[in-house]
Amino acid sequence: MQPPPNKEVVRWGVLGAARIAIHHVIPALQQVASAELVAIASRDLDKAKDAAAHFGIPKAFSSYEELLDDPDVDAVYIPLPNSLHAPWTIRAAEAGVHVLCEKPLALDATEAGEMIAACRQRNVQLAEAFMYRYHPQIVQTLELVRSGEIGAPRIIRGNFSFELNRPDDVRWDPALGGGALLDVGCYPVNAARLVFGAEPVTALAAATFTKGGVDETLAGVLTFPDERYALVDCSFRLPFRQGLEIVGTAGRIALAWPYNPGLKPATLTVTRGEDERTITIPSANNYILMIEAFDDALLSRRPLAYPPEDAQANMRVLDMLAASARQAVEGKA
Ligand SMILES: NC(=O)c1ccc[n+]([C@@H]2O[C@H](COP(=O)([O-])OP(=O)(O)OC[C@H]3O[C@@H](n4cnc5c(N)ncnc54)[C@H](OP(=O)(O)O)[C@@H]3O)[C@@H](O)[C@H]2O)c1
Repeated sequence: MQPPPNKEVVRWGVLGAARIAIHHVIPALQQVASAELVAIASRDLDKAKDAAAHFGIPKAFSSYEELLDDPDVDAVYIPLPNSLHAPWTIRAAEAGVHVLCEKPLALDATEAGEMIAACRQRNVQLAEAFMYRYHPQIVQTLELVRSGEIGAPRIIRGNFSFELNRPDDVRWDPALGGGALLDVGCYPVNAARLVFGAEPVTALAAATFTKGGVDETLAGVLTFPDERYALVDCSFRLPFRQGLEIVGTAGRIALAWPYNPGLKPATLTVTRGEDERTITIPSANNYILMIEAFDDALLSRRPLAYPPEDAQANMRVLDMLAASARQAVEGKA
């Protein structure tokens, strides 16, 4: 592992001038005291230079390789299309660079395993950028569930949809790892596993596929041990909405915007019998909190709160749902 140059700061690079990087993660990186954003790479040098000039980033590269080979880079953020997460994570590991990789970690659980093995071999950290988990509304929800506030959780309903109106978006391209399940279905699946603290044993799904072969809408049921179920849905063809409802033997908790509440205060509704209370959580930037947690693990050499094996387990469930949805379509043909 390349140790950070001093104990205070992690020097970051960004691979690709992706929308998520430009709009959320780079501004967040620049607000984290323990992070120094030193380089950005794009396949197009002008794009890299524009982003570098806009954000005051010292170095701009015309290839991801050059950035990874720069000895001034300790860690990279990878916001590339899903099919490129594995190859560039493995390249980063080979260069001795820590990786914060966008969700979903990989195309499937096997690929996730290869990424984990490459990072372990080079002794670099790997984390999946599921920022939503660092938001205090999720921390508080987990505390409420674990304290028994709603009894034993039995059913989780989670959803995430939006209208994907850009015809050339990478999410429509099967070769780049497109599809609603990988893009947004991964959130409710992750939330269900997180809240139950368990892995599902079966998955059943149905989906509508585009002519190009990616799922544009998917609905699924996951069965967890001990009579626990999760109902998840995701879509590129429905209005922007997201939700998480946790139903326990003594009540329920509902989150209005569980995955990206933005910078507005978040609300949790907790219901027990006739009693209903709304908890308002002050606004928080979950991208900043995620980067702080990653930096803290690197600088203090503490284990990550969410190890990459959790991402691999999430991929396993996405694989199960995808296989079931495909089987349903093939059965009909
Ligand atoms: N955590 C979150 O809140 C969140 C939100 C949105 C997206 N994401 C994740 O972030 C990743 C990127 O999403 P995005 O919406 O930001 O995508 P995007 O705007 O399309 O950016 C992807 C970037 O990848 C690079 N790239 C390399 N090879 C490419 C290829 N063959 N085709 C297209 N682009 C290529 C491009 O950068 P250069 O041309 O500069 O090299 C491009 O700007 C995805 O994994 C997605 O799931 C996460």
